[in-house]
Amino acid sequence: MINDIKDVIANKEQIENICSKLGKKIEMDYQDKFPIFIGLLKGCQPFMSDLLKSINCYCEIEYMKVSSYAGTKTTGKLNIKVDTNVDVKDRNIIIIDDIVDSGITASNVIQLFIDRGAKSVEFCALLDKPEGRLTDITVKYVGMNVPNEFVVGYGLDYNEKYRNLPFIGILKEEIYK
Ligand code: IMP
Ligand code: MG
Repeated sequence: MINDIKDVIANKEQIENICSKLGKKIEMDYQDKFPIFIGLLKGCQPFMSDLLKSINCYCEIEYMKVSSYAGTKTTGKLNIKVDTNVDVKDRNIIIIDDIVDSGITASNVIQLFIDRGAKSVEFCALLDKPEGRLTDITVKYVGMNVPNEFVVGYGLDYNEKYRNLPFIGILKEEIYK
């Protein structure tokens, strides 16, 4: 598995630093707001768990399962596979995902919770790939920017593989070309 990786973008220690820095920022912004963190499965899983450990405030945790990707390509629309039934009316929502690329997932999910009556909705992603953007969304909480290449590990997959890598790396092109 490890031999399929071209370059390491963030190792374990760097990911830990990113999570604690981002967590402290969110903690300051949401101290008395009793936010609901809604993780987008499956990619959010290791990131959300590490991020939340550094946020010292009362919060709720929910998940939903969405997809907009097939292989290494965006399909252009959001597919809700498993929804959350949490009541978001007048609540402060922070959606957690692994990466923002075209922005289609982020913009659709944000709009969904605005439509459901949330008081505020922000998006938090471990990684941002600004060159992939097809929408005009800017994401408030981002761990780090990555180049316009296909990255895997620490929750990010290629056809369901590599989520268990303990670091984030660029996948060799020969694996998916
Ligand atoms: P967007 O809707 O195009 O912003 O894509 C967001 C979703 O696409 C993420 O939640 C990932 O599941 C997937 N994705 C985008 N870029 C990558 C990548 O480089 N590696 C793995 N998954 C990616
Ligand atoms: Mg995802």
